[in-house]
Amino acid sequence: MDTVSDAVHYIFLAAAACFVMGLHLMNHPRTARRGNTLSAGAMALAIAATVWLVLDEDVISRTGWLVLVSGGVLGAGLGLWAAREVRMTAMPQLVSVFNAVGGGAAALIAVGDLLQAEDPAGLGARVSLPGALDIVIGAVTFSGSLIAAGKLQGVVSGSPVVFPGARLLNVALPASFVVGTVWLVLAPDSRVALYGLVAVALLFGVTLVLPIGGADMPVVIALLNAFTGSAVAMAGFVLDETALIIAGMLVSSSGGILTKLMADAMNRSIANIMVGGFGTGDSAPTAAATSGAPAQVRPVSADDVAIQLAYASKVVFVPGYGLAAAQAQHELGDLAKLLTDHGVDVSYAIHPVAGRMPGHMNVLLAEANVPYTQLKEMDEVNPEFPQADVALVIGANDVTNPIARRPGNAISGMPILDVDKAKSVVVIKRSMGHGYAGIDNELYTDPKTGMFFTDAKKGLAELKAAVREFVG
Ligand code: TAP
Repeated sequence: MDTVSDAVHYIFLAAAACFVMGLHLMNHPRTARRGNTLSAGAMALAIAATVWLVLDEDVISRTGWLVLVSGGVLGAGLGLWAAREVRMTAMPQLVSVFNAVGGGAAALIAVGDLLQAEDPAGLGARVSLPGALDIVIGAVTFSGSLIAAGKLQGVVSGSPVVFPGARLLNVALPASFVVGTVWLVLAPDSRVALYGLVAVALLFGVTLVLPIGGADMPVVIALLNAFTGSAVAMAGFVLDETALIIAGMLVSSSGGILTKLMADAMNRSIANIMVGGFGTGDSAPTAAATSGAPAQVRPVSADDVAIQLAYASKVVFVPGYGLAAAQAQHELGDLAKLLTDHGVDVSYAIHPVAGRMPGHMNVLLAEANVPYTQLKEMDEVNPEFPQADVALVIGANDVTNPIARRPGNAISGMPILDVDKAKSVVVIKRSMGHGYAGIDNELYTDPKTGMFFTDAKKGLAELKAAVREFVG
């Protein structure tokens, strides 16, 4: 090794260490921003070191540089634009597109390496095996992530798409991966094996994700994110690149842990989710649901709720998907500040799968500059509900449904926020429409619950104005 490649090697190791520290800092909302900056800085450093190494080795032609720089500028520009412009509610589909790009790039690295090898027939299993695995995982991730993004965006049907023979196909296609992989390892110069493996893997990505309902897509995306990491790690083996292996495995393991945590928080197994058929896409409130509140619920007005809030000692806000859909986080933050300034003890109850992506509520509330000390995770806040004078639910449904405590329904066993134990409950939502699980919520018919039927943003703005009247 010469001096430059030695130095670059150490820079890669330092970058990998920063990735690990960055992940650790993301454990808490207070340090998450720092974790993100540290990881992004480490990635920039790794890219700069790679460019330095390539310049030193002088192995890239002028045209090669043109392609490299154009790709870098285009990719970075698109990434920057998307991260700034895409709405918070569309983040899951953006992450999915990023997964597709990562998986596709990793698969292309292996395809390129196999096609360009000077002596392809002589490639040992040390290169051809990770190459074949990289192609399979990367191509499945590419097509699967595009379908997942399409479902969330409404371009592909959000309902489970099941066709005759789909289950059989989903068993036959992975079996053909084994055949294709063995073939490619034994004959790395075989174009039929190479292109066949790519085609079958692309097809499997589609047939794997199509039968899964749109609302399960966040879990699927986390899983595909883990796949992207594995594909990148395999690409690291193909290129003999330690930094890629470490970064890929970090993505793979953190994505895998996240998938498991999400499935646990819904009390479902990953296998149950991947088999598909559960839930549907998110839908607008139906005509029946919006045509007025059924007799057994108690509709309330902004003034009714404002009086309760103004005279309360302790208020717990319970945000859910509706808060994100209405983009009402700033109105909620303002209302909470008004009450805090008035001497009310205010907190936010955060359910691990409230919303449509991990940490959805934390991100929204951070946007509204809500003090982190007021955010309380489910286990911490549940014992506090009995002391709360008012629990104000904003666009949350399934994560508050007491029916989860009983067996025999779609959310049985899912841990919930004990909102029904508060002294009084108010729910802001537009109608009696269902949440993601598609079942009635018993909380709404509880005699101590008042239903404030309105869009979350509009309702919170009205509440803010009404509370201001009371607190002066
Ligand atoms: P949901 O149970 O999906 O309920 C959201 C509610 O928001 C709906 O009932 C809807 O009622 C209301 N809403 C929609 N737009 C609104 C608006 N503009 N203003 C006011 N309300 C509005 O949400 P949740 O309680 O947050 O639970 C999340 C669900 O998603 C869970 O079942 C969870 O398992 C699932 N899930 C979550 C994740 C992650 S990682 N977060 C991943 C996969 C699945 P109206 O139509 O009547 O307004």
